[in-house]
Amino acid sequence: MKQDNLTVITHPLVKAKITQMRDKRTTTKEFGELVDEISGLMCYEITRNIELEEIEVETPITKTIGYKMKGNDMAIVPILRAGLGMVKGIHQLIPTAKVGHIGLYRDHDTLQPVEYLCKLPSDLSSRDVILVDPMLATGGSAIKAIEILKEKGAKTVRLACLVGCPEGVEAVQNIYPEVPIFLAALDERLNENGYIVPGLGDAGDRLYGTM
Ligand code: URA
Repeated sequence: MKQDNLTVITHPLVKAKITQMRDKRTTTKEFGELVDEISGLMCYEITRNIELEEIEVETPITKTIGYKMKGNDMAIVPILRAGLGMVKGIHQLIPTAKVGHIGLYRDHDTLQPVEYLCKLPSDLSSRDVILVDPMLATGGSAIKAIEILKEKGAKTVRLACLVGCPEGVEAVQNIYPEVPIFLAALDERLNENGYIVPGLGDAGDRLYGTM
């Protein structure tokens, strides 16, 4: 697994909140709140390299020079359904972002992800995309979603997941080495059922109470 383009957030708040999410006793409500909070905290790193431009601002005291985001606006694109949980925390911090949606299901025979919904901002090519999905397991869904985004004209894509494993990170890096990956935790491995170990179980089920 290459370290280039991989950021694992080590902030104590993120570590503590991820641990609360892992706990099987955490309720659906608490789980959703934690996804929100961690996604917001991750935003700090995800947006670290965005460009700013100087603007003049007048405070009640005097004029001074401040900053605003320069150039491309952003788009937040969740992979349905679990990715939806990560939108609010990021959108609150980047309210000018538009939100697209990609729905994928896994074909029973081929086990490959298949698109069933794709609704993206019409000006996608002029936006920096943050693709969100809580779990980076095999990497199959993320790879398919990046392929769709690129086909639709996205020029820059950042992938943000809460929990990843080496198998998923490597799979994405092998095909899209240019896509920066942000994780709140990098776990040990994938098990034979496609779950991340130790992980947190099925993120969609835990978010929506469908266990
Ligand atoms: N998707 C999940 O929700 N959890 C995993 O552990 C792997 C994939």
